[in-house]
Amino acid sequence: MLPAVARGHWGWFHPCARLSVRMSSTGIDRKGILAERVAVVTGSTSGIGFAIARRLAQDGAHVVISSRKQQNVDRAAAQLQREGLSVAGIVCHVGKAEDRERLVATALEHCGGIDFLVCCAGVNPLVGSTLGTSEQIWDKILNVNVKSPALLLSQLLPYMEKRKGAVTLVSSVAAYFPRMELGVYNVSKTALLALTRTLALELAPKDIRVNCLVPGVIKTDFSKVLHGNESLLKYLREYLQMQRIGEPEDCAGIVSFLCSPDASYITGENIAVAGFSSRL
Ligand SMILES: NC(=O)c1ccc[n+]([C@@H]2O[C@H](COP(=O)([O-])OP(=O)(O)OC[C@H]3O[C@@H](n4cnc5c(N)ncnc54)[C@H](OP(=O)(O)O)[C@@H]3O)[C@@H](O)[C@H]2O)c1
Repeated sequence: MLPAVARGHWGWFHPCARLSVRMSSTGIDRKGILAERVAVVTGSTSGIGFAIARRLAQDGAHVVISSRKQQNVDRAAAQLQREGLSVAGIVCHVGKAEDRERLVATALEHCGGIDFLVCCAGVNPLVGSTLGTSEQIWDKILNVNVKSPALLLSQLLPYMEKRKGAVTLVSSVAAYFPRMELGVYNVSKTALLALTRTLALELAPKDIRVNCLVPGVIKTDFSKVLHGNESLLKYLREYLQMQRIGEPEDCAGIVSFLCSPDASYITGENIAVAGFSSRL
């Protein structure tokens, strides 16, 4: 028996309806490469998650967006629905078991199965050193950033099997190049690289691929502390080979590709979208 559906935004969600051809954000007609597929994207009412949700929907998927705040869910879902995309929204704080259960139940109720999971929700409540971090903050960061993708995936797994699905986790270049002020966040994002490889190994026999998006500095609310600082911005621009800060849309096409059949033999990979070569 499915749990009761909380107030969600379902206006333009057409359960398993065939979608028409859509134009991608690059302007290239991809002929609905993800048509008939269902994607769940956490932390997707703004920033990188929102851009990914939009792109998956533009490429034909039915997309369930989510985040902690009802008003953000309503606003984001309404915006994408106005664009003619098949998008539904539901509140889900990824650190709360009951919210994850409701997300799974509502996605199933509306489409009967799930093909793709993209875990974008992330938190960095601390700007400071690892050793100065309280146990409470350690728990919060590891809970949201590392444990919740694995727990949500284990809840979704029975409904992803036999669908040749794909999972994308979202790490950070802080995993490769830890920054002093990011403390436990660096640790959590490094753990996601290991989680990607471990899950890829465990899920390969089920034909589910697991990869990891590794963003550099992307212009969102989350990174305001970086791109809002003019002198830091000047330094960053010199340091970045591309000489610009990334936009959320820079992260979207690669996730659509990783979900698509074009990536059918790619798993366990970490792919940096950072404006510079992240190879060590
Ligand atoms: N921006 C960057 O430069 C950058 C670089 C590397 C990695 N990343 C990673 O990219 C991911 C997305 O970051 P962003 O820059 O796009 O951030 P953002 O623009 O601040 O968006 C964060 C989104 O996640 C939601 N959210 C926050 N905490 C949540 C939680 N506990 N459960 C569910 N949803 C939650 C927010 O909505 P609500 O407030 O409604 O919950 C919002 O929709 C994060 O994992 C971050 O670590 C970002």
